[in-house]
Amino acid sequence: MSDLIVQAKGIWKAFGSNEVLRSVDLQMALGERVALIGPSGSGKSTLLNCLGGLERADAGTLIFDGVEMQGLSGDALAVLRRERLSSIFQFFHLLPTLTAQENVEFPLRLLGVASKEREQRVAKLMDQVQLTARKDALPEQLSGGEQQRVAIARALAIRPKLILADEPTGNLDSVTGAAILDLIEMLAEAYQTALVLVTHSLEATRICHRTLRMCDGVILEKA
Ligand SMILES: Nc1ncnc2c1ncn2[C@@H]1O[C@H](COP(=O)(O)OP(=O)(O)OP(=O)(O)O)[C@@H](O)[C@H]1O
Ligand SMILES: [Mg+2]
Repeated sequence: MSDLIVQAKGIWKAFGSNEVLRSVDLQMALGERVALIGPSGSGKSTLLNCLGGLERADAGTLIFDGVEMQGLSGDALAVLRRERLSSIFQFFHLLPTLTAQENVEFPLRLLGVASKEREQRVAKLMDQVQLTARKDALPEQLSGGEQQRVAIARALAIRPKLILADEPTGNLDSVTGAAILDLIEMLAEAYQTALVLVTHSLEATRICHRTLRMCDGVILEKA
């Protein structure tokens, strides 16, 4: 087994004539946290989408957790995503009709995890994000910071190998954002989950082992 979770080489992606990723290389170790910074439009979210299998690269190789993703069918890619990858978004993306606890449980239901195991994992995660008292609240009844804590718990429920976070503090005030970053760091460490953190905030890079800067579709060396 490789000790690399991500091995991306020569990733190209164009939308029409707009070449958004122009030979991106990225290697990440198991459990490694990498921050990705760079100007608006430089390709950060597109790279995240390629790493997560939401977009297919036009060229290059992408090996995730030992699996060459480019060759997978749509169905196989969906299974890989469901089992091993999670995302955290700027606008939380919780399911509005499910309670906080049900949102965290949802990916485990999709995976067919048995009910007792689901209950145990969800209870532990709700405790770890300090939302046990609010477990039956709907997303609309929660603050932005609380919603993001639910999203973090949901992301970890499947024990993913990699979390892709696209500006997870972008919609939060700085104090709440700092607490969310601390929580992501603490739980990524506890669950040994690798992380790609796209951020506009240099401050946020503190929770990562490395920071990379994207510019015009390429990764420049050290930020
Ligand atoms: N689905 C799409 N169809 C067409 N063009 C797209 C698509 N997604 C992204 N682009 C274009 O790709 C370029 C890079 O976009 P991307 O969202 O990756 O940038 P970003 O670095 O995440 O920017 P930001 O910091 O503003 O979020 C932009 O020019 C954008 O318009
Ligand atoms: Mg973006």
